[in-house]
Amino acid sequence: MNNVYPHSIRIVDVSPRDGLQNIKQNVPTAIKLKLINKLSRAGLKNIEVASFVSPKWVPQMADASDVLKQLDQNSAVSYTVLTPNLRGLERALEGGVKEIAVFAAASESFSQKNTNCSIAESLKRIETLIQTARDNHLRIRGYTSCVLGCPYEGEISSEDVSQLTKTLIDMGCYEVSLGDTTGIGTPIKAQQMLEKVIEVVPAQQLALHFHDTRGQALANILACLPYHIASIDTSVAGLGGCPYAKGASGNVSTEDVVYMLNGMGIQTGIHLENLVEAGHYISEQLGVINNSRVAATYQS
Ligand code: HMG
Ligand code: MG
Repeated sequence: MNNVYPHSIRIVDVSPRDGLQNIKQNVPTAIKLKLINKLSRAGLKNIEVASFVSPKWVPQMADASDVLKQLDQNSAVSYTVLTPNLRGLERALEGGVKEIAVFAAASESFSQKNTNCSIAESLKRIETLIQTARDNHLRIRGYTSCVLGCPYEGEISSEDVSQLTKTLIDMGCYEVSLGDTTGIGTPIKAQQMLEKVIEVVPAQQLALHFHDTRGQALANILACLPYHIASIDTSVAGLGGCPYAKGASGNVSTEDVVYMLNGMGIQTGIHLENLVEAGHYISEQLGVINNSRVAATYQS
């Protein structure tokens, strides 16, 4: 760590996927599409738009093909989708996907709960689908979940986190996002975990994906910024949560992260007012409270 902050940072808004996968009511495809367009108009260049998981497991993502096919594609934006297995990848390819995200957990219990298989089995599934993804020239991003703890097992060793993250990079992910799935981490622990991962994967191939369950996400991000990670995952209006992670709530809000980075002179290319408008839009459509503190200072 050199206490020098990066000049710019890539923000990956995951609200259409992580944000909506945990919402109880059905969200019409048209509303998802409008949200994605608003995010793109606010300057987001990376948006995770859906997941091609089993609709029996996550009914909220059953319309992933429609979302992908009906997107008003902006050529400057990378639209990513989550794929758990070859079946998911094949569905995504039919929709014309260009970038996918694969996911694995550093906790055996969470791996079983979330994907019905062990960590080793999930890596085998990923290996199979990555081969097809490479044949189709897709960009591949990865996630390591439970990097700062597991809702079922408690402490997770940073050694396990770093080994899994390196495995995903070695398999062909251009970047791996480190998921504090249930927002359990605190700043010094986040730094210690990151220092361990950086021993085996360059910071420029890492992203932070911190849920804000206990209000620690901004502090954790700030603690990790001097390591020059490449990207930060966020969710507009602080939406988010994994249906298979007990107690998980929203991701850190995009608005709050952009506000903090603006104040630090770190470029994101995002227009804050337009972003706030997108957050108010989706919160009103869902009938939920907007979890962004910054958005609360703007008129809805
Ligand atoms: P399974 O039940 O073991 O799979 O689920 P299966 O192969 O036995 O298939 C069961 C049925 O699902 C079959 O249908 C398959 O065809 C179908 P049936 O014959 O019964 O009619 N199926 C599919 N259908 C559509 N698309 C597919 C697909 N795969 C199987 N891709 C599976 C295994 C992995 C599929 C399941 O456990 C699953 O979908 N899990 C995903 C759960 C999830 O989406 N969790 C949230 C995302 S991860 C997250 O939020 C964390 C993250 O944000 C980072 C962080 O915060 O840490 C990324
Ligand atoms: Mg998440």
